[in-house]
Amino acid sequence: MSDQPTQDGGLTPVQTLEQGLAEVESSFVQAFEQTTTEPELRAANAQILGPQGQLTSLMKLMRDVPGDRRKEFGQRSNGIKKAVQSAFEDALASMVKAERARELAETPWDVTLPGRGAVAGRLHPITRVRHELLDLFSSLGFEAASGPEIELHENNFAKLGFPDDHPAADMQDSFFIQKPDGDHDPGVILRAHTSTVQVRTMLARKPPLAIVAPGVVYRRDDDATHSPMFNQLEGLVVDENISFGDLKGVLTLFGQRLFGPEVPVRFRPSYFPFVEPGGEVDYGCVFCRPWEGDEARTAGCNICKGTGWLEILGCGMVHPVVFENVGYDPERWKGFAFGLGLDRIAMIKYGIPNIKLMFENDVRFLSGF
Ligand code: PHE
Repeated sequence: MSDQPTQDGGLTPVQTLEQGLAEVESSFVQAFEQTTTEPELRAANAQILGPQGQLTSLMKLMRDVPGDRRKEFGQRSNGIKKAVQSAFEDALASMVKAERARELAETPWDVTLPGRGAVAGRLHPITRVRHELLDLFSSLGFEAASGPEIELHENNFAKLGFPDDHPAADMQDSFFIQKPDGDHDPGVILRAHTSTVQVRTMLARKPPLAIVAPGVVYRRDDDATHSPMFNQLEGLVVDENISFGDLKGVLTLFGQRLFGPEVPVRFRPSYFPFVEPGGEVDYGCVFCRPWEGDEARTAGCNICKGTGWLEILGCGMVHPVVFENVGYDPERWKGFAFGLGLDRIAMIKYGIPNIKLMFENDVRFLSGF
């Protein structure tokens, strides 16, 4: 390629380049000085150095410059580019500095204006029920205990007297843990009840003891009143002369403290492999209050479904087999245990229709308590 004039009499590439460079060189300082805001300054810079910028386009002409003059033009245009860049940076820095000085010189914020007010957080309904029950049982001399949520199948079932093929292992259809090779580990599950803490506490400690253990448990259950993850509270008392009378006394007192002193209590026989005798405890429905004699109110009550009773917990005298499994002498030690659902109590106490609401973390729900 040679530096010949174009046929229409226009400029040669060298001339265009010479003129263009001279123009950029003589105008960029002023172009920057004329801007007053950062976006304006950036736009002015882009007009020179941007992908479509003046200098960028000129530098594309370099390939049309005859070889003997390329070096000269290369150095010149690079020098101009550097000058533009550093002028832009200086202008930007002084603009930022001026802006900061202006902000500082402005009338400061009116610190006497009232604040927006902080929204106070609050405890989750289940946490509140847990605190209430821990307070209640600690006032009766119980200590708090805990155990892991990922548990040995053995502690969840066999140690509690479930035979290997017991339907309860089915009834509490468990979640298993997957091993790295993809198989499930039949020996490890997410605990299906907090009764595992009975086992762990007795394995670790000598009697006498009185513990309550709140915690999360997992079962493959899912409807309006059942969630695959829910909260229980386990109780266990072991001593030399514990009788069913102690169990009745503690659980009667518990119901009266939780629901009110007038609430009736009903013990119904029921079966759990780790207790004998075993039972379930119902308390009079605190919504329709059947003891006040309004039968129609009870008949229409959708909390107790017209029965007048709320089923609250499972309980019983600790089975001698459980004592043997944890190394306690069943001839010497007696005890009682109970387990209840914290979520169910929260639902009853706060009139929550669906257990899932408590696990969705929707502030519209949570701020209602
Ligand atoms: N673990 C039982 C359940 O989850 C409840 C229970 C605890 C029953 C202690 C008796 C004694 O259903």
